[in-house]
Amino acid sequence: MCGIVGYIGAEQAAPVLLDGLDKLEYRGYDSAGLAVFDGEKIQIAKARGRLKVLREATHGGEKLPGFCGIGHTRWATHGIPSDRNAHPHFNEAESIAVVHNGIIENYLKLKKMLETKGYKFVSETDTEVVAHLLDYYYKGDPLDAIMRMMHRVEGSYALGIIFRDHPGNLYAVRKDSPLIAGQSKTGNLIASDVPAILKYTRDVYFIKNEEIVCLTEDGLSFYNVDGEEIEKEPVTIQWDVSAAEKAGYEHFMLKEIYEQPKAVLDTLNPRIRDGRIEIEELGMTDEEIRAIRKIYIVACGSAYHTGVSAKYVFEGLARIPVEVDLASEFRYRNPILDDGTLLIVVSQSGETADTLAALREAKARGIKTLGIVNVVGSSIARETDKVMYTWAGPEIAVATTKAYSTQLIAEYLLAMKFAQVRGTVSQDEIDEMVNDLKMIPEQIEMLLGQKERIQRFANRYIAAKDIFFIGRGLDYAISLEGSLKLKEISYIHSEAYAAGELKHGTISLIEEGTLVAAVLTQEELYKKMISNMVEVRTRGAFLLAVTNVGNTEVEKAADYVIYIPKTNKYFTNSLAVIPLQLFGYYVAIGKGCDVDKPRNLAKSVTVE
Ligand code: F6R
Repeated sequence: MCGIVGYIGAEQAAPVLLDGLDKLEYRGYDSAGLAVFDGEKIQIAKARGRLKVLREATHGGEKLPGFCGIGHTRWATHGIPSDRNAHPHFNEAESIAVVHNGIIENYLKLKKMLETKGYKFVSETDTEVVAHLLDYYYKGDPLDAIMRMMHRVEGSYALGIIFRDHPGNLYAVRKDSPLIAGQSKTGNLIASDVPAILKYTRDVYFIKNEEIVCLTEDGLSFYNVDGEEIEKEPVTIQWDVSAAEKAGYEHFMLKEIYEQPKAVLDTLNPRIRDGRIEIEELGMTDEEIRAIRKIYIVACGSAYHTGVSAKYVFEGLARIPVEVDLASEFRYRNPILDDGTLLIVVSQSGETADTLAALREAKARGIKTLGIVNVVGSSIARETDKVMYTWAGPEIAVATTKAYSTQLIAEYLLAMKFAQVRGTVSQDEIDEMVNDLKMIPEQIEMLLGQKERIQRFANRYIAAKDIFFIGRGLDYAISLEGSLKLKEISYIHSEAYAAGELKHGTISLIEEGTLVAAVLTQEELYKKMISNMVEVRTRGAFLLAVTNVGNTEVEKAADYVIYIPKTNKYFTNSLAVIPLQLFGYYVAIGKGCDVDKPRNLAKSVTVE
């Protein structure tokens, strides 16, 4: 949700900034801008639309000479996407330039105060308040002005700031929005996320809440909110630069779909030793695991959908009651949390504002917390009591695929571990499940081999108005994900329904030819599912079925069938999701949609 970058060093800043923004465009892409300082004047260029518009307008940055600069790619919150509302924002004297990711919650109050002091606003953004507030407090010492600004501003921010009076410095500060810094051979950088600077360095400083960083050409200094200098150690990033590149694939989404066998393997392998499940990072004694009386799984979007799947797995295997909650609901509903409660938060980015807020709410109430997180060093990873990383590597496409798949794996492993310790399943059953888990990467590979067939089928539906996904139990959980995947990238209206619920209202939407994708992988629910399929088919629906290999009986009730390989009943979502991801992808491609950057969305949702 908005990406910021900054550079100061021996190279021309603008090309470095454009390069960094290119890697951050997944965070927002309705406008972009640069502010570059040539030692005398700060020049700003902004453009509504994708980064390429800004790139062309500045001739690849050539029009903005200078060795220090900040850049921004925007996902609009306050004020429509426009040149005027694009960042960077200036104070009136054009001596302070600011880029911002986050939301200044008290901006209206601050704006009013500043207006009474004669400040004039030119944009509708909350960010402009920061530029003027810094101007108001600036008496020659940037650090002092930043600290004062921090005391007045409420909300979330990662800010990159340049002061015309201080040509040798670039400042950045964060609260509740991600920010990293790094040192390259030619200078120093800040960014919202690692891919933006990975080309220049693997040693990354994660800036914590209310920390300030001052960059010069030669070094970085870190300060706390009281202006005291602090020491920070860099973290070495293990991924390869190519992990954040398209590597010959047409889209990041397709590449990431294809990376799923590896991502699953990387998440699974370190936690299975000699056939036993070992989750070292869990840091819970057997006694503590036995004492869990209730689990809350809290997340947003697709991560929430993995929670819906995990509920069935935890309850089925470990016999622990699980409540799955949307983070944006959980945080405001005063949930009942007591001693025996474990809160599991699931997040790819580790920065999702609602998930982070829900975590903080639970922590404030003394509940044990565990994060299932992909981005190392992210806010959620740092703030949960314990973190179990999913090893999906960088996920760039806005629609999640490989992170989703690894989240499922982490949840299966946890449920199995809890079941083992609590004695609710036998060792033989665990052994069998471990064997099934190990087969999943290969089985995903097999399903990916059906891509052409799924593409041909998807091409028939590019003009569809509505598409429904139905399932029961775990198949309902995967229907939620299949439906989201399709609608978010193809803009076709879609809903997921518990199959038995359809006739309580929604079935009235079924018309001649409406596509209904039925997922039926749960043996004990086959018959019920087939009845539900027949119900919609007799009303004109065209039926796509995703089911287990060998279940040919389904062909009587379906018009088109995709078979998934046999696995343990708790793991079928890991396989059924593959054709559904491919289906969504190919429908969107067929319609000519920008699948990696769907309209109105951004990858990391750092606002409420
Ligand atoms: C959908 C998608 C989103 C995210 C959601 C949570 O494809 O990617 O629904 O799952 O925004 O994001 P994280 O996992 O970063 O907390």
